[in-house]
Amino acid sequence: MEFIKSPLNYTGGKYKILAPLFEIFPEHVRIFVDLFAGGFNVGINANADKIICNDQIHYLLDLYRTFQGMPTNELINEINERIDYFDLSLTNAEGYHALRERYNDSKNSIDFFVLTCYSFNHQIRFNNSQKFNTPFGKERSSYNASIENNLIRFCEALRTKNVEFHNQDFLDLDLSKLTSDDFVYCDPPYLISTGSYNDGKRGFKDWTLTEERQLLGLLDELHAGNIKFALSNVLYHKGMSNDLLIEWSRNYHVYYIDKRYSNCSYQFKDRNTKTVEVVITNFESGGYVQWQQQSLF
Ligand SMILES: C[S@@+](CC[C@H](N)C(=O)[O-])C[C@H]1O[C@@H](n2cnc3c(N)ncnc32)[C@H](O)[C@@H]1O
Repeated sequence: MEFIKSPLNYTGGKYKILAPLFEIFPEHVRIFVDLFAGGFNVGINANADKIICNDQIHYLLDLYRTFQGMPTNELINEINERIDYFDLSLTNAEGYHALRERYNDSKNSIDFFVLTCYSFNHQIRFNNSQKFNTPFGKERSSYNASIENNLIRFCEALRTKNVEFHNQDFLDLDLSKLTSDDFVYCDPPYLISTGSYNDGKRGFKDWTLTEERQLLGLLDELHAGNIKFALSNVLYHKGMSNDLLIEWSRNYHVYYIDKRYSNCSYQFKDRNTKTVEVVITNFESGGYVQWQQQSLF
């Protein structure tokens, strides 16, 4: 199966690990909640009657609504008009800065998308006054055929699937109507590795031990209500360990994205240098047995 890739090249995006994720996930669900949707790489590929896309960054949700509500050829024309008007290229920093200034005045969603195509590492950063401030991605970032192809497929899926957008803090999204036919996927910022979206410098809520505890509490509640969940995270990263998560995960199933870590003989030799990426679920997955929980601890 060929997965749809977000046109946003989102920091921390899960496109590269969609195959193991979807092997672990239930095959079909009634409602699929992507609680920390970001670039929406995961939710957009879900096989569900309804997909809920939630993130705290409202500029993302505005963009997805624009993508959903506009014919693709019109959207591509609008993108190309901006590229021509600002003479955007791999080298024209001035044009990029002019578009950035216009976006910060108007907050137009298509301006926002075009900016992410030309920004450094395609990063989305805002300062505390909610001004987009990612520097220009000189010689590196541009709107190209591959982004356009991803955009076309992404928009088509947004229109053909039943996607509902929410812009809420994860604690405020109403999950009370979910049943055992539903599934909640969580890809929060990682406590022990900082992404540009959780450095606390963007006018958005930071991710600290408090949020980490609240999220684990919420997942415990879902489990008590018989609702399936999967949590992406890292147990070890650059010599650090997330001890709270390691302890909590003992109650659930842990699937190692790099399956070598599920092998006891691998043990801790590498834990100071390697990132141990996992998916923690409250259900046993049929499709991913060889990755099942072993004694890494
Ligand atoms: C690792 S990214 C998700 C990447 C996504 N799975 C993908 O493949 O593109 C984490 C996301 O969580 C969002 N986030 C951070 N704190 C949040 C909160 N308190 N409530 C809702 N979303 C939050 C961030 O804005 C960011 O987009």
